[in-house]
Amino acid sequence: MSDPNTADLHHGEIANLEDLIDRESLREVCRSFFDLFGLSIRVFSARGSLLANVHEERSLCRYVNSLGEGRIACAAIVEEVQGIVPEATTVVHPCFSGAVYHVVPIIYDDRRLGRIVIGPFIPSDVKAPPEAMLQIDPKVDPGRARAALLEMPRVRPATAERIAAHLRGVLDLILFSGHRAHLTSAMHLATVRENYRELAERNARLQEAYDKLKELDRLKSNFLATVSHELRTPLTSIIGYSEMLQTGIAGDLSEEQAGFVETIRTKGELLLSLITSLLDLNKLERGQLNIELEMVDPRAILAEVRETYHPEAERKGIRLEVYCGDDTPYMQADPVRLRQILINLAGNAIKFTPSGGRVDLEAMAVETSFHDEELDDGFGAALMMAPEPAIEFRVRDNGIGIAEDQAERIFDAFYQVDGGSTREFGGAGLGLSIAKNLVEAHHGAIHIESELGHGTTFIVTIPQAPPDPD
Ligand SMILES: Nc1ncnc2c1ncn2[C@@H]1O[C@H](COP(=O)(O)OP(=O)(O)O)[C@@H](O)[C@H]1O
Ligand SMILES: [Mg+2]
Repeated sequence: MSDPNTADLHHGEIANLEDLIDRESLREVCRSFFDLFGLSIRVFSARGSLLANVHEERSLCRYVNSLGEGRIACAAIVEEVQGIVPEATTVVHPCFSGAVYHVVPIIYDDRRLGRIVIGPFIPSDVKAPPEAMLQIDPKVDPGRARAALLEMPRVRPATAERIAAHLRGVLDLILFSGHRAHLTSAMHLATVRENYRELAERNARLQEAYDKLKELDRLKSNFLATVSHELRTPLTSIIGYSEMLQTGIAGDLSEEQAGFVETIRTKGELLLSLITSLLDLNKLERGQLNIELEMVDPRAILAEVRETYHPEAERKGIRLEVYCGDDTPYMQADPVRLRQILINLAGNAIKFTPSGGRVDLEAMAVETSFHDEELDDGFGAALMMAPEPAIEFRVRDNGIGIAEDQAERIFDAFYQVDGGSTREFGGAGLGLSIAKNLVEAHHGAIHIESELGHGTTFIVTIPQAPPDPD
């Protein structure tokens, strides 16, 4: 057995005449020979199937077939002719009627693919019905036999040879182009098959890599959850004991001791908030963070955020203001998470704004269409939902700004524009990633407008009420 993947390539070996030749063009060639020379032509494949058949019943044949014995003898001749398989050259087969058949081999690439049967016709030197014809049936009428014979096509043997050679030449051409087409399609098939095999292999490798990555991701998540949890417990003790020391429970502290304890506590709190962020992000990425909706007053949330950052803004000499109309409606949101989003954004705004700058916190009612990814038609034309009421929060600063090419990446976990060992600002690069995940958990969207050196505005849009689950 040959390898099924390469078998097609070996089909340079010609299999069958019927596979190589277009029957329609073969028939057409035979028909034009018939029209030109008036000779019946039949083409058989090596297996004996009739591929083309252009003929006309001749008067002589009709006459023979009208006689009982004649019909039997004629059928025998036809059978004999069909059984002839010429080796290399034309076989001339005579009929009792004086007519002959030429059986011409079709040879291509040293292989016998079939044969052409030309005739019956009368060789030009036969002028009268032979004895055999007159004896074929008791009812033969010599006069009618002679008349019928004279109506037959009459060809000189040399001419018959030339016609056969011609026909073979034309057939050769058809075969050649058929062979070429056959080869081309075989090659094409083999190439397609090979490409497909490669693709399937690559797919399998990709799937493997993907599975591995997924497993790694799961391990990472588990690891993160465990480590964070294990770190949190001792940290809470460190912070708790520092606070106790500060309250004087264990006796008065010298000014230097108080300073050290304060550092332990603030650094401990920083570490705790970092660990909390990691845990949050982990939960968000695994879809394990639950959003608990209630009616929330956007104004109140902004006021709380301002409250949180008021001391720090004051220390840095930054004006921190809330702008929110009295008529701003309540919304359905998780107040803890909404506050967390805005705290992250406001914290950044203050961190990345030099002293003397300003940070504005705004909220207003808007009508917005949220882009539903599941309805995206995949051609870039996003299908928009009908506009719905939403609350738009803006956190605007006139700080250092963000370059356009960074604007998408800053939402990636751990990404920081000036990341590296010489960082000027603190943080771990998790805040925006968490904020974005939380906004999306509220079915909202977050955008950024920024100009390097002039300031940044983060725009968070959250539906006033969550969409129906269906
Ligand atoms: N208001 C802003 N102005 C300028 N750059 C900002 C602002 N907010 C965020 N960035 C950039 O995006 C990065 C990622 O922000 P974030 O995820 O909150 O991480 P972190 O604050 O811990 O650095 C920041 O490091 C900073 O480079
Ligand atoms: Mg931040």
